[in-house]
Amino acid sequence: MLMNTRLRLARRPRGEAVNDDFTITQEPQPLPSAGEVLVRAEYISIDPSVRTHLNAGQSYRAMVGIGDVVDVPVAGEVVASGHPGFAAGDKVTGMLGTQEYGLAQGDLLTKADLSIAPLPTWLGGLGLTGLTAFFGLDEVGKPKLGETVVVTAASGAVGSVAGQLARIKGARAVGVCGSDEKCRWLTGELGFDAALNYRSPDFYGELKAATPDRIDVVFDNVGGPLLDTIFRRLGMRGRIIVCGATSQYNENEIYGPKNYLALATLRARMEGFIIFDYENRYAAARQEMAGWMKEGRLRCRENIIDGTIADYPSVLHRLYQGESIGKTVMRVTPTD
Ligand SMILES: NC(=O)c1ccc[n+]([C@@H]2O[C@H](COP(=O)([O-])OP(=O)(O)OC[C@H]3O[C@@H](n4cnc5c(N)ncnc54)[C@H](OP(=O)(O)O)[C@@H]3O)[C@@H](O)[C@H]2O)c1
Repeated sequence: MLMNTRLRLARRPRGEAVNDDFTITQEPQPLPSAGEVLVRAEYISIDPSVRTHLNAGQSYRAMVGIGDVVDVPVAGEVVASGHPGFAAGDKVTGMLGTQEYGLAQGDLLTKADLSIAPLPTWLGGLGLTGLTAFFGLDEVGKPKLGETVVVTAASGAVGSVAGQLARIKGARAVGVCGSDEKCRWLTGELGFDAALNYRSPDFYGELKAATPDRIDVVFDNVGGPLLDTIFRRLGMRGRIIVCGATSQYNENEIYGPKNYLALATLRARMEGFIIFDYENRYAAARQEMAGWMKEGRLRCRENIIDGTIADYPSVLHRLYQGESIGKTVMRVTPTD
């Protein structure tokens, strides 16, 4: 019988999740029943929002229960299939959890075509984070030709795609991120019009200089005080896309925007969205993005960190340290 190594939630974290919040188990893995597919994890997606799903309470999706495997996107290889659409050896992605082998209904899996992009990109640019950039921009921000779009966590998985898509739509893209190296990547390789390090002592002055006509769209991934600062440059009828708030996920109390009344003065809008609402349009969006990748107009980069299932919390910690550029994934090393 196949043995499966799993990472399960042991208790609700306080602040940042640490190793002791989880337990590692070794369990026999049953083979798939009709309609199911068994997948060996090759890459596990590392997402800041996973921290919010470890809390008690309600969210847009089910919280991880105590004792549950953490529900995260995974890319891997089919080892056994009870579904006619999948065969052993197929590469797929799906919500397969923090474990070496994930079992899912085949209808919920996506086949990864490696002739379009390598497997990790199916968790990034062609995965949920790339799709988040696509739908957040198209459905909420709706940038017009010549408008200025400011993206926070711009060198991250969602942000790096959002800025490039803004450019493809004819807008100016200004990235905001946490290091000069990240800034150089955004302007040098991804074609952002400007990139600013929010740690700079004169960040607001630099933001003013980079947004002479003020800001039309903010694609916000971090929230907190940084969003307040950017808010000060919002223009008339500006749109703030509330994609996420990475700076707040490990906090026990959320810092909300101070100057929200400017929304009235500016006739502006702040609107959130959740990617899962666009599920029936994922395939079409992927096709469009794959076309831009082929043309060299959309570039993706993955930050691949090797680790066993037990290393998942420490890899998540590294994402919060701002170490990564592009989409962070953990390449799964089998447990001895
Ligand atoms: N709405 C949706 O449906 C949806 C779907 C997927 C993701 N999201 C959201 O999209 C956002 C980006 O996710 P991602 O997967 O692309 O992550 P990511 O940007 O690749 O990684 C997180 C980045 O956030 C920055 N960061 C970390 N702590 C911070 C802090 N305290 N203050 C400011 N910045 C901080 C770091 O970059 P720096 O070095 O630049 O600080 C870090 O690299 C998250 O908020 C996530 O929840 C939303």
